[in-house]
Amino acid sequence: MNENDITSQSEEEMILTNRQGHPIGNNQSMRTVGSRGPATLENYEFIEKITHFDRERIPERVVHARGAGAHGYFETYGTVGDEPIGKYTRARLFQEKGKQTPVFVRFSSVIHGSHSPETLRDPRGFAVKFYTEDGNWDLVGNNLKVFFIRDAIKFPDLIHAFKPDPVTNIQDGERIFDFIMHTPEALMMITFLFSPWGIPANFRQMQGSGVNTYKWVNAQGEAVLIKYHWEPKQGIKNLTQKEAEDIQGKNFNHATQDLYQAIESGKFPEWELCVQIMSDDEHPELDFDPLDDTKLWPPDKFPFLPVGRMVLNRNPENYFAEVEQAAFGTGVLVDGLDFSDDKMLQGRTLSYSDTQRYRVGPNYLQLPINAPKKYAATNQRDGQMTYRVDGAPGQNPHINYEPSSLGGLKEAKKPGKEHTPLIEGNLVRQTIERTNDFKYAGERYREFEDWERDDLILNLVNTLQTCSPHIQQKMTQLFTKCDPDYGKRVAEGLGLIDGIQSGNVNTADTEFGGPLGSTQTSEA
Ligand code: HEM
Repeated sequence: MNENDITSQSEEEMILTNRQGHPIGNNQSMRTVGSRGPATLENYEFIEKITHFDRERIPERVVHARGAGAHGYFETYGTVGDEPIGKYTRARLFQEKGKQTPVFVRFSSVIHGSHSPETLRDPRGFAVKFYTEDGNWDLVGNNLKVFFIRDAIKFPDLIHAFKPDPVTNIQDGERIFDFIMHTPEALMMITFLFSPWGIPANFRQMQGSGVNTYKWVNAQGEAVLIKYHWEPKQGIKNLTQKEAEDIQGKNFNHATQDLYQAIESGKFPEWELCVQIMSDDEHPELDFDPLDDTKLWPPDKFPFLPVGRMVLNRNPENYFAEVEQAAFGTGVLVDGLDFSDDKMLQGRTLSYSDTQRYRVGPNYLQLPINAPKKYAATNQRDGQMTYRVDGAPGQNPHINYEPSSLGGLKEAKKPGKEHTPLIEGNLVRQTIERTNDFKYAGERYREFEDWERDDLILNLVNTLQTCSPHIQQKMTQLFTKCDPDYGKRVAEGLGLIDGIQSGNVNTADTEFGGPLGSTQTSEA
């Protein structure tokens, strides 16, 4: 609201009230017996104000607690590469060239609390809510294109290892690498994370990726496998550990501030959405499983095909109402988009709406930031903080069940042929067959520029230096399997010769690792 808006308000509209609409005549003093008290219990205005304040916080996200958000739009090209997009997906938001769909985006860091520094080494979340004509579609991704694990049952262990120690409340490299040495599928992600890619310079200059594999379904019910990628028009910029520490000494909100100020000054950040497409089968010709989210699909075989662009052009009016209460989930898809059998994706899909019913409340989907822009018409009723009925305008308000002949809601007609994949197999607990945990992490290591590789080794050594010798030795062996030079440089930095402690590294006198890659413990 600008100054003119304020002066144009009528006097009555500017009067302070309580939540019952009662005007507040004195907001400076509680009601007391005499000027020195005591206070009285019937003091409704005071009680409402203080008890509401006492409830101002909701639980923060169990992961991705620190974040910033913005509104904007997605504009489709109507094509995927050179082909009409309808060949692969019937999702309506993509079909007509130039069509715009409103979006809300939340960027985040993962491990630490809601006011932690934005310079910490961490993957960055990149969650987009598309308010489409067919209801909401959420694409909940990160900036690194891969993930640490490939089975959802391991997620709580992974996060516990990275979160602060339950006794000391300090993040500890010993606990992290104790877990990672048993989790070789994480090596590509670790290689990214400890390089400058683990500290993007800000939210505008980073990529995004859906990471997990989805499907597109066309009007005939035929499906292809899809991976989504956001490419920033602002370019990509990452920080060395030293650069990040210099920023952190002066400003621990730099990424939020950068995004807010860019939008406020009209420099709207923009990303191109690209997809990789693969036929919907197991691809035995590949030496990895296409549903393994610890792997990249090689872009030379599966090129990045542009499908549209996203522009962020409006800051939230209220951080809590919009950014904090925003709820994204991998289960939120529209017609023409589908799940693949990726087991991580399936595990995630349960987790998001489950945590949001607890974190925000059972009616979180009635909040304006989460509600679809089109109407929602369900027979779900009641529960904490219900403030409207999710009904269709012509619905008989007495009928909250289906089927009914008395004016209740009706089932929708499916807009295209159903995709009905045949799924067969024994019910088992097994890892996938083509694990190939080392080759692609080694490729990533070799593809880095020299300064990125140097920073990677420095950051790994700084954190591993605080770990027990058996963890250092095991991690060195794993890096050697990725690339002999990778292992050798980490071993040299740690003072290990042939995997054996040479005695010139002091691991005993540093009790905790501190923040990942921090230079506070020692120099490599
Ligand atoms: C947030 C679970 C893997 C990206 C969350 C939240 C949970 C969760 C419970 C908090 C949601 C909320 O409070 O609203 C899981 C589980 C995973 C998993 C169980 C694996 C089995 C991933 C992966 C990615 C990812 C692989 C990246 C592709 C995000 C993002 C957010 C988030 C971006 C923050 C969303 C926001 O800004 O509100 N996750 N996650 N997660 N997760 Fe995951």
